[in-house]
Amino acid sequence: MSGQSKNIILGISAGIAAYRMYDLISELKKLGHNVTVVLTSGAKHFVSELPLKILSSNHVYCDMFSPEIQNKPVHIELADNADLVLLAPATADIIAKAACGICDELITSILLATHVPVYIAPAMNTNMWEHFTTQKNIETLVTKLGYKIIPPEDGDLACGYSGVGHIASNEKIIKTILYGDSETKPLLGKKIIVTAGGTREVIDPVRFIGNKSSGKMGLALADTANSMGAEVVLVSTVPADRKYQVIEVESAQELQEVIESEFDRADALIMAAAVSDFRPITTSKQKIKKKNEDITIELTRNPDILEILGRTKREKQVIIGFSAESENIEKNAIEKLQKKKIDMIIANDITIPDIGFGSDENAVTILTRDGSKEILQRQSKVQIARHICNKLIDIFETMKETKKHDFNKK
Ligand SMILES: Cc1cc2nc3c(=O)[nH]c(=O)nc-3n(C[C@H](O)[C@H](O)[C@H](O)COP(=O)(O)O)c2cc1C
Repeated sequence: MSGQSKNIILGISAGIAAYRMYDLISELKKLGHNVTVVLTSGAKHFVSELPLKILSSNHVYCDMFSPEIQNKPVHIELADNADLVLLAPATADIIAKAACGICDELITSILLATHVPVYIAPAMNTNMWEHFTTQKNIETLVTKLGYKIIPPEDGDLACGYSGVGHIASNEKIIKTILYGDSETKPLLGKKIIVTAGGTREVIDPVRFIGNKSSGKMGLALADTANSMGAEVVLVSTVPADRKYQVIEVESAQELQEVIESEFDRADALIMAAAVSDFRPITTSKQKIKKKNEDITIELTRNPDILEILGRTKREKQVIIGFSAESENIEKNAIEKLQKKKIDMIIANDITIPDIGFGSDENAVTILTRDGSKEILQRQSKVQIARHICNKLIDIFETMKETKKHDFNKK
């Protein structure tokens, strides 16, 4: 609910979509809000100060070194008086500056000086949006600074491209900043367990059986699900400093115990962790001494967590697994999907150099229980995480539809 009048700082940066802010200001004013426009130097090429001033009924700021207001530097006074800051359109450049804390513009200085919610409506060419650096900067703004992104949409762009990069509609921007963000939080109300990292099976106090998983895919999934509104429980073998719940574990057995204690109240489990199939039968309390003979470590099978939960899960619970393969990738993944009775599997070929383990990028095939298949070419793990979360949303939606359908049948 928009409630009482809000003081909104509208930061406009140098993109074609800047002209759309004339209408946005009028609409916000009609709703009774006070809008103060802050332009980047570049934005002056795209919009004019005079109409912005008339539409907002306020002075339009641009210069960092404008005369002080109430004896305070402009960026501090504007930051202190705002209820929220909206950056729209947000260029790739302003997003990069905000992610790094660069203050060479009035608006970026305001961002550092304020404690109020910040909303970002990016708009740019598709390649600029999909660029690894832009995605990394967006991830920083969301996960480290708590900024809310109003995602760009798919469409025909002024640059001649067709793809994602079109600024969100004014209606969507207004809904998000004033009425809460159920539209940008499609996983609101869902509890999702995400596992990350590789388990370590202890041999003695200094040695373990491990694997190459860095935890990056799991972290990207947990961050994305959290930014989409889910209540996330991250069960991780790698430390993660996050605002949502993180439970650190080491071995497959510890991982299993935590998942089993959380799963009953969860709507979904995303099993991105690489879980060791085996563990030593015995663990030595003392470091095993080097001798002149070979030693044998006897291993026992760890329980297959996905298979156990796939068998026992409730109808409305969703389980997503990963399948790292070096041969017959798709065939093996489909077999796992069916055998473990899970809803989706993300298969990747670990023989492709440079991607996968430890890398910020991967290329995967997403297979679902209803037979759908989607191939994602090499891209950042953050982008892959978004695809997977969107697929999860589709599964939840289908479940709702099925429920309605069943109800109608009765
Ligand atoms: C005609 C034109 C259109 C542009 N449109 C965009 C855009 O939509 N998004 C974007 O990120 N950059 C766009 N740019 C590039 C930015 O204007 C440029 O990166 C600039 O330095 C951004 O400045 P600012 O972030 O300080 O406003 C455009 C440039 C030109 C010349």
